[in-house]
Amino acid sequence: MNVLYASAEVSPFSSSGGLAEVAGSLPLALRTAETDVRVITPLYGLIDYAGHGLVYQFSFRYPHRSGSLDVHVHSVCRQDVRHYFLQCEPWFGAEGTLYLDQARDATRFILFCQLTLACAWELRQRNNWFPDVLHANDWHCALIPFLLSVSRSSPDWASMRSLLTIHNLAYQGHDAGAALYYCGIPTRSQPDLVYQDLDDNLLAIGIASADVLTTVSPRYAAEIQSPELGRGLDGLIRTRSASLHGILNGIDRQHHNPETNCHLAARYGAVEFSLSRCINRKDLQRRHGLDCERRVPLVAMVGRLDVQKGLHLALPVMRRLLTRDALQFISLGSGDPRFHHELALMAGQWPECVAVQHDFDSALASQIYSGSDLFLMPSLFEPCGIGQLLAMRYGSLPLVRETGGLADTVVNYDDGRGSRGTGFVFGWSETEALAHTLEWAIRTWHKRPTAWRRMQERAMKQDFGWDKSARATKELYRDVLISEVHP
Ligand code: GLC
Repeated sequence: MNVLYASAEVSPFSSSGGLAEVAGSLPLALRTAETDVRVITPLYGLIDYAGHGLVYQFSFRYPHRSGSLDVHVHSVCRQDVRHYFLQCEPWFGAEGTLYLDQARDATRFILFCQLTLACAWELRQRNNWFPDVLHANDWHCALIPFLLSVSRSSPDWASMRSLLTIHNLAYQGHDAGAALYYCGIPTRSQPDLVYQDLDDNLLAIGIASADVLTTVSPRYAAEIQSPELGRGLDGLIRTRSASLHGILNGIDRQHHNPETNCHLAARYGAVEFSLSRCINRKDLQRRHGLDCERRVPLVAMVGRLDVQKGLHLALPVMRRLLTRDALQFISLGSGDPRFHHELALMAGQWPECVAVQHDFDSALASQIYSGSDLFLMPSLFEPCGIGQLLAMRYGSLPLVRETGGLADTVVNYDDGRGSRGTGFVFGWSETEALAHTLEWAIRTWHKRPTAWRRMQERAMKQDFGWDKSARATKELYRDVLISEVHP
């Protein structure tokens, strides 16, 4: 089976977060002798061409509505998975950031979808390779299923199927009408789109056209069918609920491994870890100017500083607990200036208890996972979340809100001897709910060290690798290939 996997971001080439992580690792896990998965992504100007060993492959001319475009295809093979990079100036090839502005990005990614199909055709002519399944990710690639549905009237494309994965419904590529017109995309007359006034929303077009839909956790698959988290698309998604599957993301367990990670002061496995984690904790405190002698839990946050991640809940609670000298806090990540400002004030007020780093750095992130006691992720919504999986892998217990992938991956402590639980979970997105749960976790840390240790052990032993997701995804590919096309 041949699969062409399209994503706007693919780690390690281009990344702004979780999408890139997934696109950089799921295809590698899917690759077998029978499944030839190939990845396709834009060649942004910022990609380190020589550093990643990219090589020029071929060029073709694309007859665009605005004139003919020259497309250059470059590629590299990563762990047996071929990656294609499309260069098409002025749209892709010279930019210093992945995304520009809404209007230009709509045009750029519609074009990327058109070029992906064109490139598939070129691969068939040149290399005798043609996909059976087109796997598109998020709004950037969401037009691919639609373009395929239009092409299927030709026998060459008739047996191809499409799958669309939603990583985050908050980004939809809405108001793309002008860009669609500019790119010469025919009328989107699918009744569900028309009646719901969504025919210029790229993600909606993808949802209405894909043969199968997936999202990145079972809980999020249910949540996006409700008005609260459906972001205006819940009605449309409900029309597709029989074709929607929640498949949990994984993490690369080889890469994120406390036994082999060379950035840690001390390495450890899931059985003997207390001493090593203690060394890592001291190392982290020392490097970031935190007082090593304080007998309080070290609480960490790693990720974008924005409202989705629940910063507006976390920071007032932190402030309150810092006043009572109840914890130390380390934050890694950047985002909304108002949270930068608040964090700077806190670090100024409690220099021995608060450390703030804005520039993301994966070595530092792993030092934080392996040296902190608690990992805070009070997200308002979270399609899957990766931070909590990494924190558990390294033995930092997650404290999360019960939503999306957080609800599917963290088991609440039973308040007993620690025979159940891998972290702490709260329900309402309110400061008081978070405050109570954090106080409960801090009490547990002080009073029940054995229960804490057992939870860490259980958290570290869980298998959140890619195998299960890859198996489920392949099953979907197989099912969709033998099923009727979506009308
Ligand atoms: C998005 C979501 C995140 C998910 C990631 C990968 O970034 O916000 O929850 O883990 O995509 O699917």
